[in-house]
Amino acid sequence: MSYISIQNVHKRYNATNVLRGFTMDVDRHEVACLIGPSGCGKSTMLRCINGLESIDAGDIRVGNITVSEDLADTDTLRRRVGIVFQQFNLFPHMTALENVSLGPRQVLKIPSKEAEAQAFTLLERVGLADKARRYPDALSGGQQQRVAIARALAMKPEALLLDEITSALDPELVGEVLNIVRELAREGMTMILATHEMAFAREVATRICFVSDGVVHESGEPHRLFNNPEKPKTRAFLKRLTDARRI
Ligand SMILES: Nc1ncnc2c1ncn2[C@@H]1O[C@H](COP(=O)(O)OP(=O)(O)OP(=O)(O)O)[C@@H](O)[C@H]1O
Ligand SMILES: [Mg+2]
Repeated sequence: MSYISIQNVHKRYNATNVLRGFTMDVDRHEVACLIGPSGCGKSTMLRCINGLESIDAGDIRVGNITVSEDLADTDTLRRRVGIVFQQFNLFPHMTALENVSLGPRQVLKIPSKEAEAQAFTLLERVGLADKARRYPDALSGGQQQRVAIARALAMKPEALLLDEITSALDPELVGEVLNIVRELAREGMTMILATHEMAFAREVATRICFVSDGVVHESGEPHRLFNNPEKPKTRAFLKRLTDARRI
């Protein structure tokens, strides 16, 4: 049985039909990459998976939890599935260490000292042990994003959703963030990424899902999908990227 199951999900914002029957299954230890044009519904889908947005129809299941309106389930779900956004969303009035230890202290009720020690270990892991006492505005974008990843990992999630986590970064800072994702993939973290970094998607993904108009239009193993897309729309999308030298 897949770990994350998304079946025929529909979601609309007023007049806009954003998700129109989105279906995808992700096994444990898989790294699925969502690619597709701006506005096709990638972020919306990720936000629905951990209950940040409600769905209008269809089913989403993570492990044995069905994503629903039930708040107790939503809490469990958010602990199980971490999410990292393009715009880091760190608390500006808290140091890196405080940002990372907040969830474990407040949600998991881990004593402060222990939560701080764990947070420090995570910051070490993302190469920021020497920046633990800094506030976000004294960190580069790449460093802030690494703190945000450490913060998600602090909740000991079983899966991570990463939404364009390098899009707000200067090009020279992208590598340091992607290295962490690479390492998480090697360790077997189940991940769903929305990304415009095609070279990276190709390297790290076990599966690429091309999203178009709110559905997975075509999916497949990276080599196959990039080299031999079957559907005209997928081909046209990849050709546009190739022409723009983004692949
Ligand atoms: N809160 C909202 N209210 C109204 N419309 C929204 C909301 N969030 C997203 N949308 C609309 O839903 C559609 C899909 O947006 P979404 O952010 O999921 O796209 P995306 O694939 O992540 O795009 P990008 O590649 O630019 O990040 C867009 O048309 C967007 O304007
Ligand atoms: Mg998006």
